[in-house]
Amino acid sequence: MRLIETRDYDEMSMIAAGIIGAQVLLQPDCVLGLATGTSPIGTYQRLVADCKKGLLDFSRVRTVNLDEYCGLPGDSKESYRYFMDHNLFDHVNIKKENTFLPNGCAPDMEAECRRYEELVSELGGADLQLLGIGRNGHIGFNEPADDFPAQVHQVELTESTIRANSRLFDRIEDVPTRAVTMGIGTIMKAGRILLIAGPEKKEIVQEAVYGKITPEVPASVLQLHKDVTIILAKS
Ligand code: F6R
Repeated sequence: MRLIETRDYDEMSMIAAGIIGAQVLLQPDCVLGLATGTSPIGTYQRLVADCKKGLLDFSRVRTVNLDEYCGLPGDSKESYRYFMDHNLFDHVNIKKENTFLPNGCAPDMEAECRRYEELVSELGGADLQLLGIGRNGHIGFNEPADDFPAQVHQVELTESTIRANSRLFDRIEDVPTRAVTMGIGTIMKAGRILLIAGPEKKEIVQEAVYGKITPEVPASVLQLHKDVTIILAKS
């Protein structure tokens, strides 16, 4: 595991965009695993800027996102599909049909979980998976639990995650209580993992990197992955 500490969020975003950009340059048809949230916004802005300057070409890139809320259609502004379109896909030359997220409105969510797991697997897994981390150590929507979920599955969101995510909704009651997420097993199949975290995540990052490997701290499983880079912004 490589742990890079940066001065601030901007420097974190610059380095993360550099790593993702290098992946796209070296493997133009790569599969990028992507995340939503506050942490990757600056990274996506830099990728957009580099694409607009003609430095990056996304025309052959495929993407798989970690997760999606249940019950929010893709055109709802709080959905992760909307987030991805708005922050990245609409501003780079990626083909929309090559961008994949779980369908949180599928009529049969169990079937949707199986479909998404198979899709990730058919794409050969993510070549590079970008992750954020929750204050409780969650990755994707894999909350602290008794075991590490292997595959794409539905989750009941914890109180703390609902509270944390409510900042992006008009009212806390509007935050969906369920989501569909890649499992820890799905995430661990990625060739390389890049986790980015702001200063408020310092303690949980330390615990994930140096502490016991336990599903109580889902990100601690990353200690078992062969190629993980963590970028932690100091301020
Ligand atoms: C988002 C995701 C979550 C976030 C995490 C950190 O797709 O899977 O695990 O990465 O909650 O969120 P931020 O970056 O908003 O602190």
